[in-house]
Amino acid sequence: MSISVVILAAGKGTRMRTGRAKALHTVAGMTLVEWSLAEAVGLDPEAISVVVGHEAENVSAVLPPDVSVVVQDPQLGTGHATQVGLSGLADVDRTIVVLPGDMPLITAESLRSLVDAHMSSGSAATVMTVDLTDPSGYGRVVRDGDAVSAIVEEADATEQQRLITEVNTSVYVFDGAKLNEALERVNSDNAQAEYYLTDVIGILAAGGDSIGAVKVPSDEGLGVNTQGQLAYAGSILRSRINDQLLESGVSMLDPDRVYIDAAVEVEPGATILPDTYLSGSTTVATGAVVGPDVDASDSTIGPDARVRYSVLDQADVGKGATVGPYAYLRPGAVLKDGAKAGTYVEIKASVVGKGSKVPHLSYIGDTEIGENSNIGAATVTVNYDGTNKHRTKIGDRVHIGSDTMLVAPVTIGDDAVTGAGSVITDDVPDGALGIERNDQKNIEGYAERRRKRSERQTD
Ligand code: UD1
Ligand code: CA
Repeated sequence: MSISVVILAAGKGTRMRTGRAKALHTVAGMTLVEWSLAEAVGLDPEAISVVVGHEAENVSAVLPPDVSVVVQDPQLGTGHATQVGLSGLADVDRTIVVLPGDMPLITAESLRSLVDAHMSSGSAATVMTVDLTDPSGYGRVVRDGDAVSAIVEEADATEQQRLITEVNTSVYVFDGAKLNEALERVNSDNAQAEYYLTDVIGILAAGGDSIGAVKVPSDEGLGVNTQGQLAYAGSILRSRINDQLLESGVSMLDPDRVYIDAAVEVEPGATILPDTYLSGSTTVATGAVVGPDVDASDSTIGPDARVRYSVLDQADVGKGATVGPYAYLRPGAVLKDGAKAGTYVEIKASVVGKGSKVPHLSYIGDTEIGENSNIGAATVTVNYDGTNKHRTKIGDRVHIGSDTMLVAPVTIGDDAVTGAGSVITDDVPDGALGIERNDQKNIEGYAERRRKRSERQTD
């Protein structure tokens, strides 16, 4: 049986206190609305309709083109939002799953079991519930005997109902036709003057329909309404990601101090050390050791690479390459196999060829370095003339002397050498020494004369 999904993500999220739409807050590398979408996609639905409202355009921008986006304006409550969401679906008589846009902890297994329970029971609606030791803020699941008879929002609940610890997660499966009918009958006579989706449950139950409920582990019931809940959701998602990686064969000295986003890939056999942040589309290959203290976003770390105390942004680190301590690899930095970016080295939009090394205190920008070359300490590619960026090309087996300024555009040929302290403005041919320095002058007896001079002054 085919299903369609409605995701409710129009809310403002006032309690986040950021002024931004709640759906756009990020946790473990994805926005809240993307987490809901990932949950939905796991069900392989016929269609997905996402209800947006606050920052509608920005929220739409993070959604793929194959979901239907509908705008709810003004936001009159979750019941109203669901109605708007249904208008984005071609066929609403099928099975409808409703997901809130602020529940990133729902697992695929729980969602599947909810749908399966609904399908096999023939209920008009099936609601996902959790038991919470502190149910405050959530809608309470009211039962009449075993049967679910209503969901009552905290603001509308009696003292007695507030003691109920089974709460509504806001994840539901509905018979589409029944949902439609019941939504028509929802009113806003409640404490928040909103059209509650939760009222649909009471309406259906009162009309004699059976309501199913599936209880899932309590962690999954977390709705993100505050920064504290967002941070908590992050800690749970992170430990799930880390557990999965550990299970697959990744080593971690201290998983509690490793921060890996959902889309990151780490191969079995890699080691991640503490205080390491891997985000975006970063990949880490087998045998690589990353950390401590590495912040890598959208970067590739090759097999057996060693990266520590460094920042990598859109960088590509080859097999067996070494980075740090204290290197900064900026967009377009490519270290080929066995290359090195050492201590206090910044590299941008440059290729460091196979086996080439930039070991200490250098800036390399807009540069191509061949194979097995060595860049002396404190070398700088002077790539910017104040208006334009220019390129530096360094061949194979080159020895750049310490403290060389390579004023781009400039080309250093294969096997060439530059003298330490040179300001190289002209190309250096293959095999040549490029040196730009005044001859050294030694002044004999200088120290003695200086001592006498200062004695005269203090007399
Ligand atoms: C809702 C449920 C509550 C449940 C809790 C679980 C209702 C009335 N209450 O409460 O029973 O325990 O979730 O976390 O449904 N939204 C819209 N348009 C609107 C209003 C809300 O799209 O007009 C979206 C929000 O963006 C959010 C979701 O619906 O993603 C839930 O809204 P929220 O305001 O967070 O509801 P809760 O008060 O948490
Ligand atoms: Ca909520």
